[in-house]
Amino acid sequence: MKLVGASPTAEISNKVRALTAAGHSVINLGEGELDFATPEAICEAGIAAIRDGDTKYTAVAGTAELKAAIQRKFARENSLSYEPSEIIAGAGAKQLIFNALLATLASGDEVIVPAPYWVSYPDMIRLAGGEPVIVQCSAAESWKLTPAALSAALTPQTKWVILNSPNNPTGAVYSNAEMKALTDVLLGHDGVLIMADDIYEHVRFEGEFATPAAIEPALKARVLTVNGLSKGYSMTGWRLGYAAGPAWLIEAMQVLQSQSTSNPSSISQRAAIAALDGGIGFMADWIETLRQRRDIVLAALGKIDGLHADTPEGAFYVFADCSKLLGTARPDGRVISSDLEFASYLLETAHVGVVHGSAFGAPGHVRIAYAVDTETLRTACDRIVDACAKLHGRNAA
Ligand SMILES: Cc1ncc(COP(=O)(O)O)c(C=O)c1O
Repeated sequence: MKLVGASPTAEISNKVRALTAAGHSVINLGEGELDFATPEAICEAGIAAIRDGDTKYTAVAGTAELKAAIQRKFARENSLSYEPSEIIAGAGAKQLIFNALLATLASGDEVIVPAPYWVSYPDMIRLAGGEPVIVQCSAAESWKLTPAALSAALTPQTKWVILNSPNNPTGAVYSNAEMKALTDVLLGHDGVLIMADDIYEHVRFEGEFATPAAIEPALKARVLTVNGLSKGYSMTGWRLGYAAGPAWLIEAMQVLQSQSTSNPSSISQRAAIAALDGGIGFMADWIETLRQRRDIVLAALGKIDGLHADTPEGAFYVFADCSKLLGTARPDGRVISSDLEFASYLLETAHVGVVHGSAFGAPGHVRIAYAVDTETLRTACDRIVDACAKLHGRNAA
């Protein structure tokens, strides 16, 4: 446990709760969670499950009905075909990613993690006994892993490569061609497994969605495709994720799950069938709302000398460069010398929670999640603009 820390996003939420309890009006733009209600038909399916008495243990990897709905989803949306033995459902994508790593990593095994990364990957890898190999991506490359950087990071010890598109925290979305360039590199490295974290699949503003197993069928036997209902369906609290991959890996993950958490909630499984089979028509409105919110954040950043972000193509985050504000002084005279201190300044004085980029392996940045209602977001953005205007000594850095 000494190797890992608590999730930094959860820590921000704790500070927000403490300030709120002290009577401040705090707006949390730190949480990776949509404010939209779970669609009615999905809720009804969960309620019907309770009324039908579907409240008992199920098969560890999910019911046959849920697996069939997951099969249909992969066939319909990703042109991917899986057998039931190649599918597992769990209590969120997070649990499945953790189980996959725990089931496969031995001491000395390396896992390639492009940065900026989702905060949990490195700690999960360490908990499972492996070594995260962080590959820094740059804003100049739209925060994407390049084939050259991937090639350079691969070693005989590489066990996994984690790819996450749309990306948390940058919102970067890999095109088919960009994904193909990466899978081409991986074709030449037989023993390497590929984790495709597709949890933000549906949260895209433009462009195609590329997932490695579909882009390069020759790799399918080495790809674990992870997805879930948390982000696209606004169902974070239902805790329902799923993964598809080679049967040997799914079997190992199932054994692990059988000895830890067992099946995901029977009620959530029934709701998931309704979600996956119900169509994604409702998402167009959500995406439009998110696009407006994204543009509100970008417009606010445009008013701040020293904060900059390119337009993200997906997810619900703006990843802003705050390095030009480092070295400036707060109204109380304290100098801001890191992204963490800038995020703390925003929280303490503007009462707006954002997450410092260092948590994602990208110092000098902050992640602004625009998943709160639009009016609240406008207020938060005004507060950020005001707080930044009060910093002294710009350009003194
Ligand atoms: C990139 C990424 N993967 C996985 C997850 C976990 O999602 P779930 O709620 O399904 O566990 C998150 C949640 O924030 C995420 O951002």
